[in-house]
Amino acid sequence: MNILGVETSCDEAGLALIDVQGRLIAEKLASHAEICEQHGGVLPEVVAREHMRILPGLFTTFLKDNALSCEDIHAVAVTSGPGLISSLLVGCGFARGLSRSLGCPLYGINHLQAHVLVARMGQEVEYPFLALLVSGGHTALYRVEAPDILRTLGQTYDDALGEAFDKVARLLGIPYPGGARLEALALKGERTIDFPKPLINRDNMDFSFSGLKASVARYVEKTTIMDDKKKADIAHSFQESVADVVASKISVALDHHDDVRCVVLTGGVAANMRLREAIKGILPSHMPFVAPPVRLCTDNGVMVAWAAHELRHSKIVQKGYDVIARPNMSL
Ligand code: KG4
Ligand code: ZN
Repeated sequence: MNILGVETSCDEAGLALIDVQGRLIAEKLASHAEICEQHGGVLPEVVAREHMRILPGLFTTFLKDNALSCEDIHAVAVTSGPGLISSLLVGCGFARGLSRSLGCPLYGINHLQAHVLVARMGQEVEYPFLALLVSGGHTALYRVEAPDILRTLGQTYDDALGEAFDKVARLLGIPYPGGARLEALALKGERTIDFPKPLINRDNMDFSFSGLKASVARYVEKTTIMDDKKKADIAHSFQESVADVVASKISVALDHHDDVRCVVLTGGVAANMRLREAIKGILPSHMPFVAPPVRLCTDNGVMVAWAAHELRHSKIVQKGYDVIARPNMSL
């Protein structure tokens, strides 16, 4: 049973096919980042129109490039939510039409669950595990007990971490989405500025990044000579504050949940090598740390196909044609 994964919840359109063993057969991704860059962020209507324009062609090339045909697709899985309603509608409509024409099952997948579960693809991650999901739209810490049991231990009160990275990047003149380029800039800087570390002394697993972002904005405003060295120091100091907070929240979570078997970092910001290193640095030596390969941290079709595979394998999902776009879908 090969499952096709379809992801369109934000500004990436992803397709992937995995086989019954959970092995990846093919994947394809189209990003509208360049268009978003021109607009300084994600404009939902523009992105949805792009998805609509490219999706049929993306599907055809996906099949052709990998010498596949529609007969190789035995089930379709699509991101149902959470995400941008207009973008979700395009993917759900496409997946619904495809599954009907092929007469095969259709699975609606939760985007957050897919980000978390993809960490188990090709790597040993035993339940229960701790997962920190850090993306452009979400920041939350979960205790994951089974593919469908994700208990929220804490989350952000305000900005998602990816959003904070993108906003700080913009203050430094880096276009959207700036997270990865901010990390590259930080490599050239030093920790010369003492930015706040929000909620670091609280014995909880919640986050807050808007104060840190505002503090960087005030610093940038006050700085008269903004040369390349200064920008790199700001990027570096911001990233270090984030790394300290994230590592300390993982420590708190491990104090409260000492039975977890692994710590997972996932979502777009998990591509950040400094954050990976900071978390690894505080883990007890027996605790495995797993982050998906960088290309599977940011939005993609593989994670959707994989989540459907896991849920089917555990007999959790049912067949059906009732997938709808759910922008506020909860876990
Ligand atoms: O998971 P994702 O692709 O989309 C959402 O579901 O939101 O995450 C995108 C976010 C963006 O904010 C982007 O700037 C951030 O992930 N990001 C990074 C890095 N690579 C991507 N942030 C920090 N460091 C990176 N290397
Ligand atoms: Zn995402």
